[in-house]
Amino acid sequence: MASSDLPPVVRTVQEVRRHLEPLRAEGERIGFVPTMGALHQGHLSLVEACARECDATVVSIFVNPTQFGPHEDYDKYPRSLEKDLEALAPWGVDLVFAPAVEEMYPPGFQTQVLVSGVTELWEGRSRPGHFAGVTTVVAKLFHIVQPHVAYFGHKDYQQSVVVRQMVRDLNLPVEIRVCPTVREEDGLALSSRNAYLSPEQRQQALVLSRSLRLAEQMIQQGQRRTETILAEMKKLYDQQPDVRLDYLAVVEPDSLLPVEEVAGPVVVLTAAWVGQTRLIDNLRVEP
Ligand code: PAJ
Repeated sequence: MASSDLPPVVRTVQEVRRHLEPLRAEGERIGFVPTMGALHQGHLSLVEACARECDATVVSIFVNPTQFGPHEDYDKYPRSLEKDLEALAPWGVDLVFAPAVEEMYPPGFQTQVLVSGVTELWEGRSRPGHFAGVTTVVAKLFHIVQPHVAYFGHKDYQQSVVVRQMVRDLNLPVEIRVCPTVREEDGLALSSRNAYLSPEQRQQALVLSRSLRLAEQMIQQGQRRTETILAEMKKLYDQQPDVRLDYLAVVEPDSLLPVEEVAGPVVVLTAAWVGQTRLIDNLRVEP
């Protein structure tokens, strides 16, 4: 684990296959962490879990164009491969797959993997086409790497639900693990997009995690009516003039459908614009 050599990086599907073939032949348990790079402690917590639980750890770094809307931040999304490789060095990562766009989407590419239902709510409603891009690239990555286990963050809770649904529906032979959200000390969930925030915006962005904590507190103090919980959360947002709320919801953890009364575990979801930056956060709460 204390190796500080940079992990090997490959750019092509063929090289991934060539690298992993001998490991698979020896019966090693292959763990996979898909990312878009600009790695932070949230990503690294997934790598850490993977390295702990598997014999071999594969990380992909690919800013996937198909999951960005036409007016989203694909072009300005942070890219820092050299720094990312240094961040991965202590974890003994066996392979980094960092393909070019043409390797993943060669000319003539015409297939999509579409999950319905859970993709039509929340993020799916605000970002049409986003989950089609995610499921298509994750399905491709799963077929390229063929991991036994793949690691996702609770931070993108709906994404983890969508990926699980795809894996179940398509009988993909991979186990999905979801790891806790890593936060700054003041509660802000780590995100590559936090880099876009000015110091003032970063302060305002705390309203997301604070509203979630408020919901948690209310539920733990016995509040069961989500209408009341959401109204109190909304008041916190109303105090932040530069934050534009996208959605707030208290949902059932598997279906992501809104609940009226909190009777079992729920996930509280929120998304908001802080200036030009769109942030999401969520918290699982058990009454
Ligand atoms: P990316 O945003 O780079 O995130 C990669 C993984 O890191 C995701 O599973 C995400 O949930 C997890 N993650 C991000 N911030 C986290 C935090 N603060 N704590 C814990 N985990 C965190 O999600 C994607 O990339 C892409 O959609 C991808 C799955 C790679 C497909 O392109």
